[in-house]
Amino acid sequence: MRILVIGSGGREHALLKGLAADPATTELHVTPGNGGMADLATVHSSAGAVDDGAAMVALATSIEADLVVIGPEIPLVAGVADDLRAAGFAVFGPSKAAAQLEGSKKFAKEVMEAAGVKTAQAEQVLPGASESEIEAAIDRFGPTWVVKDDGLAGGKGVVVTPSREAALEHVRAVHSLGNPVLLESFLSGPEVSLFCLVDGETVVPLLPAQDHKRAFDNDEGPNTGGMGAYTPLPWLPADGVQRIVDEVCVPVAREMVRRGTPYSGLLYAGLAWDTDGPWVVEFNARFGDPETQAVLALLESPLATVLAAVANGTLAQLPPLTWSDAYALTVVLAAAGYPESPRTGDEISGEMLFDAARVLHAGTARTADGTLVSSGGRVLNILGVGPTLEDARADAYATIANIDLDSSFYRRDIALPAVQGEIRV
Ligand code: GLY
Repeated sequence: MRILVIGSGGREHALLKGLAADPATTELHVTPGNGGMADLATVHSSAGAVDDGAAMVALATSIEADLVVIGPEIPLVAGVADDLRAAGFAVFGPSKAAAQLEGSKKFAKEVMEAAGVKTAQAEQVLPGASESEIEAAIDRFGPTWVVKDDGLAGGKGVVVTPSREAALEHVRAVHSLGNPVLLESFLSGPEVSLFCLVDGETVVPLLPAQDHKRAFDNDEGPNTGGMGAYTPLPWLPADGVQRIVDEVCVPVAREMVRRGTPYSGLLYAGLAWDTDGPWVVEFNARFGDPETQAVLALLESPLATVLAAVANGTLAQLPPLTWSDAYALTVVLAAAGYPESPRTGDEISGEMLFDAARVLHAGTARTADGTLVSSGGRVLNILGVGPTLEDARADAYATIANIDLDSSFYRRDIALPAVQGEIRV
């Protein structure tokens, strides 16, 4: 199989690593890619914007792709999967209509209501609402406010705050971008990310993971795209994954089929595990970042074959997925100033930078003379794998200590609450 991956982050580096390990893969291409991918794939850094359907079709045509894997949400919501399918390509990633599960939180709520799925109460506040309308809406929620950008924010447009003033400020900031706001009631309980392969009504879960979204240790600081993740979850009840599949993912997949917009690709259910089980916080239409980096580190099944089965509508015939009996963890090395204004252009050094078993690249680039430099907020993902979660943590933190990037930072407590038995359900 000749495979094209669209995207440039740590998630796409993990996908490339998994695809490269499948003997069914004969050629790997990526666009736009990053500074760490050239060992695994041909990097097409100037093939056009990832949400430019015509440019992506032209690239897939030129490399005669047998499979196109779309990583990020922006091309999915823009309909690039539809353009590629119309041109005859097998695509891993949902149609524009189905990707609305991520693109519009309001749409996702309508689907969940129709499917009988438990989720937070929500109310949309449109740009143009008066100050008194905004305040009245804010006062229908609290004492913890969840304020979401209802445009596309890649998980980065969410503010969770006990401060009414901070909630109001975020409403105004989102409105100033011209986007609607979604106010939600706060769900307590530990968060779970469950990724499911979905092909119409066929749903196959991957291992459950947990992301750490705040910038600093002890869940302090601003929300980010994710600072680290681990899998599986030792505290999740034994039937936890099956309950999420049965109570959330299958009903949603069926509802999408009923609407005439079947889902094909990766459905990411972001959940809170409450006293009575899973409640949906949000859906994403793609693999999560950085959970994917940990989850795929444990997948033994051949990744290209698995993703091709979804793209070709044959997921139901695929043998059950197999997994290493281990734990995996990823720690994000972030640039100074992330998430508000990350500093870029700093040199990165460390012996293991090109060992994809240990380090996946996200915001990295090469200068004209080949120097590896930071080019985004989340720069590297450091992997750890081990027979216990403590071992996986020790593995990742031993590697990160040997990487140099000026003024970078990372969380020291990825998976620590789980290791210390502090998460109870
Ligand atoms: N892990 C958060 C996200 O991918 O949106």
